[in-house]
Amino acid sequence: MAKLLVVDDEQSIRESIRMFLSEKGHMIHTASTLKEAITVFQELTPEVVILDIRLPDGSGLAALSQMYAFNPLSKIIMITAFQDMETTIEAMKKGAYDYIHKPLDADELEKAVDDAIANHREDTKTAVTQKCSEGYNKSEIVGKSRAMKEIFKMIGMLCQNRATALITGETGTGKELVARRLHLSSPCGKKPFVTFDCSAIVDTLLESELFGHEKGAFTGAVNSNPGKIQLAGDGTLFLDEIGELPLNLQGKLLGFLERKQYMSVGGKNVLNSRCRIIAATNKDLAQMVREKRFRDDLYYRLKVVTITLPPLRQRLSDINHLVVHFIQKTATDLGIQQMTLQDGCIERLKCHPWTGNVRELENIIVSASIQSRGSVILLDTIEDLLSNSRISHDQSGNSLSLSQVESRHIFTTLESVKWNKTRAAKTLEISLPTLRKKIKKYHLTPRN
Ligand SMILES: Nc1ncnc2c1ncn2[C@@H]1O[C@H](COP(=O)(O)OP(=O)(O)OP(=O)(O)O)[C@@H](O)[C@H]1O
Ligand SMILES: [Mg+2]
Repeated sequence: MAKLLVVDDEQSIRESIRMFLSEKGHMIHTASTLKEAITVFQELTPEVVILDIRLPDGSGLAALSQMYAFNPLSKIIMITAFQDMETTIEAMKKGAYDYIHKPLDADELEKAVDDAIANHREDTKTAVTQKCSEGYNKSEIVGKSRAMKEIFKMIGMLCQNRATALITGETGTGKELVARRLHLSSPCGKKPFVTFDCSAIVDTLLESELFGHEKGAFTGAVNSNPGKIQLAGDGTLFLDEIGELPLNLQGKLLGFLERKQYMSVGGKNVLNSRCRIIAATNKDLAQMVREKRFRDDLYYRLKVVTITLPPLRQRLSDINHLVVHFIQKTATDLGIQQMTLQDGCIERLKCHPWTGNVRELENIIVSASIQSRGSVILLDTIEDLLSNSRISHDQSGNSLSLSQVESRHIFTTLESVKWNKTRAAKTLEISLPTLRKKIKKYHLTPRN
């Protein structure tokens, strides 16, 4: 049994949470305003608080700070109808334990509360707490899908430490964007962010680019040169395309990660570094380890903290927001008027397989904005651009036309829901009539 405080201005929400959690054997107190919440909190110091963001007399974020200052051991779970990442990160940074969205899902709520209680018990044993620092750059990572909210939570939690992080995900999913955000939101955000592209050049040069070299270290080394590690100082070193790093350098990198010490090529002195490492890859490193193309010890060293970005086709609900974002961005960057979309464009975009992910979507929207006359992007323009968009590849490496990819995607979805068209349309996030049209267009029939 635990003591819980539920803060929400809507009585129905307070009551349903109270009933639900009392049944689980907890002692529930409620409050409907910020002021009341603080008073009850200070009186009872509950183990767990479930706290709404929008309260009649102020923001739940303010209450969060006050409660946290009074008793940092309480676990505070935010609930809110604001579905944006800014609030999520803000809340996580202020020390919220978790974050759940309205409409509340009973299982999710129960899990969050159970976790929080268990965590509270652990913490009271060790009584170690750390407060997050303030100050945060405006974000440009767009996404309101559940998958992206999880990413925002991870960023909120990770930005406060300097742990090595690995970011994985298909090409164009935003790995570099996330790496930059992690850097900017971290205590070393004002320090350098230096990218080292592991796929860039031949082995020997790669080594000197990373570790630096002394004058005369090799033919052509007429001057000594600092490496990327040195340039990163106590900022962030971003190791992009880490899966491309040649094996001999993988060993050297591991040595560096373990000791944070290195020697430049041709150098005699051991140098120290304080940089934070963030690595990214679109490769399946586990598979590369099995194939002995990537060192397992380096892999385990890197993957302790992993952020995996979901492909765009698994978060189709984000397309709408991304499109609006890219239309605005294009208008500002190119000084052109802001476009609107003809009806049906978003539905059409949701049918695309997006093998190039957000980058592919961005390219399409920029091209569409430039090509369109007037202020409306026509469905035909989108259709043309999608047909000319990057050619995808099947598993044997043969290229597929985009319509082949689309028809496969729709077929696989239909098979996975046993041809229940309503469910398939929902999964694909297109309308039922659009789905019917596609089935007809591609002559799709059930496998058996
Ligand atoms: N969630 C997002 N919101 C806004 N822009 C995004 C988002 N994700 C990606 N982008 C944009 O898409 C483009 C590609 O992103 P990024 O370069 O970070 O991808 P990546 O995962 O590093 O790709 P690659 O594996 O090919 O290097 C960039 O212009 C980036 O700004
Ligand atoms: Mg990249």
